[in-house]
Amino acid sequence: MKKETLLLLQDAALKQIKEVVNSEALHNVRHTYLSRKSELSILMSQLGRLPNEKRRQFGQLINGVRSAITKAIEEKMALLKAQELTEKLAKEKVDISLPGKGATVGARNPFHIITDEMVEIFLGMGFEIADGPEVESDYFNFELMNIPKDHPARDMQDTFYINESLLLRTHTSPVQARAMQENRGRPLRVICPGKTYRRDDDDVTHSHQFAQIEGLLIDKDINIGHLKATLELFVHKMFGEKRKIRLRSSFFPFTEPSVEVDITCANCSGRGCHMCKGTGYIEILGAGIVHPNVLKMNGYDPEVYSGFAFGIGIERVAILRYDIDDIRKIYQNDVRFLQQFKKVS
Ligand code: PHE
Repeated sequence: MKKETLLLLQDAALKQIKEVVNSEALHNVRHTYLSRKSELSILMSQLGRLPNEKRRQFGQLINGVRSAITKAIEEKMALLKAQELTEKLAKEKVDISLPGKGATVGARNPFHIITDEMVEIFLGMGFEIADGPEVESDYFNFELMNIPKDHPARDMQDTFYINESLLLRTHTSPVQARAMQENRGRPLRVICPGKTYRRDDDDVTHSHQFAQIEGLLIDKDINIGHLKATLELFVHKMFGEKRKIRLRSSFFPFTEPSVEVDITCANCSGRGCHMCKGTGYIEILGAGIVHPNVLKMNGYDPEVYSGFAFGIGIERVAILRYDIDDIRKIYQNDVRFLQQFKKVS
């Protein structure tokens, strides 16, 4: 073991340390010269074989070389780290002068615009708002609406059942029963806007979830003339004075007589076109005179009281008012669709 060899080793190490340009390379240099398998470490382990005098001499020498290399590495490491940080910061600098990403602002959904308008119209006529659950019992949704079990009318409304006695309401009509029971035989004038559910396959005119506004008026001597006048006023306010309505005989288990109400087609003013399939009319709601059984089951004497009820599809009204070609657009919340309603919302 020669002193010169050690000094050559030190020179080589210091030269390499000086030349490295990044911290990773410096780690490698440290490994080469200072790890347990490095030349210096091996020499150190062999010191024991030397005679006392030489051992001390070489021990000091090796330690001196070792600390010279260690110090050089530490200094260089600090320098490289500082350099690398500066580079990183420069790279990550945010240019605050770049234009930002603009937030796209939508507008109120036409569904809500129309719901509010419809509610306003009926409030103006003296109706009050009633409410009921969307997860409804079979009893309220069907039985109290004069649709007993196994009645074929249940097929008209494909139902999402939760269990044997609970379901997602298929119409807002169960709120009629709830309002009647709450009002205990007194005159009544309520509307109920709300969500309803049916097992429909979704397409441009159908959705498994949709909304209705239910209406119910009970008093003495109520007849179909009152129903017609109320709906005519609603249609005139919603679609304009020029629209005519037509009551077409229909069937619902909870009303007798029952009607389907049509309005004259906006596109052809009743002459007949592709929009109304040549009939001049478009159907907008179902209605009728409250069935005596429904009155009786919910605490009203049909000999004293009579009433009318109606159920209007809210999306259907929105579609007709704004000429929307696909009901699904109402639910998708696409800002490109919604922005068209900025002026009216
Ligand atoms: N509930 C009926 C439906 O959803 C609509 C309706 C309500 C008909 C009230 C008559 C009276 O189809």
